[in-house]
Amino acid sequence: MSDDLLEAAKAVRQNAHAPYSGFRVGAAIRSAAGIHVGCNVENASFPEGICAEGGAITSMVAAGDTAILEVLVYAEADSPVAPCGGCRQKLAEFAGPDVKVSLAGPEGIRTVMTMGELLPASFSLK
Ligand code: THU
Repeated sequence: MSDDLLEAAKAVRQNAHAPYSGFRVGAAIRSAAGIHVGCNVENASFPEGICAEGGAITSMVAAGDTAILEVLVYAEADSPVAPCGGCRQKLAEFAGPDVKVSLAGPEGIRTVMTMGELLPASFSLK
């Protein structure tokens, strides 16, 4: 199940650097090598901030993997928090349309979507 991803994303969210938005996010990605995590890291030059998903992708690639098996995003908001448009494209680089993306909050997994639902008709070199 996705329980290990949930715990990993919830834990890494605590390390988020979000002094500008005050909105902390954690992401966990499963690949063959294991679980890779990321949190949002904002910057005084606002556009330079990095989303949690981007950090987790970087960690996965640095570990030598390029195939995403599953994704979970954890945030504490009234409704499920889905990856932004840019992160959908970044995820699609390494995740096929059937890859599961779980959106979680304090009570657990709220919504499960696929990459194909999040980013239909995505751009790729294929
Ligand atoms: N954010 C993420 O890290 N991931 C998401 O899926 C949604 C938004 C971050 C970006 C920014 O640091 C803060 O949340 C507010 O938008």
